[in-house]
Amino acid sequence: MLGAVQLGLLAACVVLFVPMGMAGWHLSRNKVLFFSGALFITLAVGVHLTPYFPSVSNFVTSVSSSTVNVVMDNRASCVSLLHEIAWEVRPGRVFNFELNNNSVNYEKSWSWKRSGSVDSCEFQRLKRHDVSVLLNGSWVVIAGDSQARMFALSLLSLVLDSEGMESVKASLFKRHSDYHTVVNEMGMKLDFMWAPYVTNLTSLVAGLKRNLVYPDLLVVGSGLWHMLHFTNASDYGFSLGVLRSSVTSLLPVSSEFGNDEGVGGSVSVRSPHLFWLGMPTLVNSMLNTKEKREKMTELVCGEYEREVQESGMLRQFGGPLQLLDIGSLSWNCGIRCTDDGMHYDGVVYEAGVQIMLNALLIESHQRL
Ligand SMILES: *[C@@H]1O[C@H](CO)[C@@H](O)[C@H](O)[C@H]1NC(C)=O
Ligand SMILES: *[C@@H]1O[C@H](CO)[C@@H](O)[C@H](O)[C@H]1NC(C)=O
Ligand SMILES: *[C@@H]1O[C@H](CO)[C@@H](O)[C@H](O)[C@H]1NC(C)=O
Ligand SMILES: *[C@@H]1O[C@H](CO)[C@@H](O)[C@H](O)[C@H]1NC(C)=O
Repeated sequence: MLGAVQLGLLAACVVLFVPMGMAGWHLSRNKVLFFSGALFITLAVGVHLTPYFPSVSNFVTSVSSSTVNVVMDNRASCVSLLHEIAWEVRPGRVFNFELNNNSVNYEKSWSWKRSGSVDSCEFQRLKRHDVSVLLNGSWVVIAGDSQARMFALSLLSLVLDSEGMESVKASLFKRHSDYHTVVNEMGMKLDFMWAPYVTNLTSLVAGLKRNLVYPDLLVVGSGLWHMLHFTNASDYGFSLGVLRSSVTSLLPVSSEFGNDEGVGGSVSVRSPHLFWLGMPTLVNSMLNTKEKREKMTELVCGEYEREVQESGMLRQFGGPLQLLDIGSLSWNCGIRCTDDGMHYDGVVYEAGVQIMLNALLIESHQRL
């Protein structure tokens, strides 16, 4: 802890040694005295004014590292910075042996933006070991359409070796089916539930409630199927509203408010971590069928997007689910990151997974 005494000593040293150092740079004795005086005054004024400038005193208190409160405030604002990601998409010519010519291949990478506030959050790209500690013994449920499937794949690729991944890919990508696995080394159970429609998600949540078992981590998201097959944003919005109340009643707090028959006061319910997997940015001209290009227009996408916001489902609008904004991640990665204008390269979902893991880190610290 950096106390007043140490600060005082530090100030004294600066006043003494900085001018002495300058003297070494051939300053006259008068100049040394001048600098010494000026420094002394600056430091004195600084020390006395510090309490009146919140940002300075925040800095001082966070340096002193003893004040949990400052760190906590920081954490809350860090959640809003999780998506501050910068992409680098660089063309690289590689020789394609199959086609016997050079083809352009884009290398894509991402990192959190470099700025003071983002840096101070110390987001980290979690590696296998970190993930196995963080999700040790957890039950993870990921439900939704192909976006959720790719998200699940990305999470698994963080914890499995390449051999494990081969077998996962084979079974996870059987179209339109559920997938269950247990990663023994870390006691993590992962269930992927195929749920192309929001109504499917609502039934899933209802099932969890019925059985009184709750995953530690629940990631859900649907929308593209509804957009293609119903193309009716207000109907989508309606189903989101139903899902919202269903998910809200999963949370233990809701029984306190009495708007739920009570998940049972005797059952100790650990509140699950809830995430909404946002829809990707669609690149209309690249969509692979005429029907998709006609129905999934920019206008319709915007309407669906708005329904998600207006449903009040997301944490930032007072709801229970924290957004994993695949829309902004895919938009920022750009059209080089997708082949069909809808499914993006693994790197986009990988960024989403890392954002989720960092959100979990923030939440778990908060709960300590
Ligand atoms: C490479 O060759 C294939 C087949 O001949 C062709 O379709 C493709 O456009 C070529 N790519 C480049 C970058 O020349
Ligand atoms: C997971 O938790 C168990 C029991 O708490 C512990 O024995 C084990 O070492 C943990 N594994 C990892 C990878 O953290
Ligand atoms: C999802 O919901 C649709 C429409 O409500 C239904 O037809 C379909 O069987 C459901 N699928 C699953 C996997 O539950
Ligand atoms: C859209 O859905 C709403 C609510 O389900 C329904 O009342 C309306 O008729 C639908 N609109 C069209 C054009 O199908």
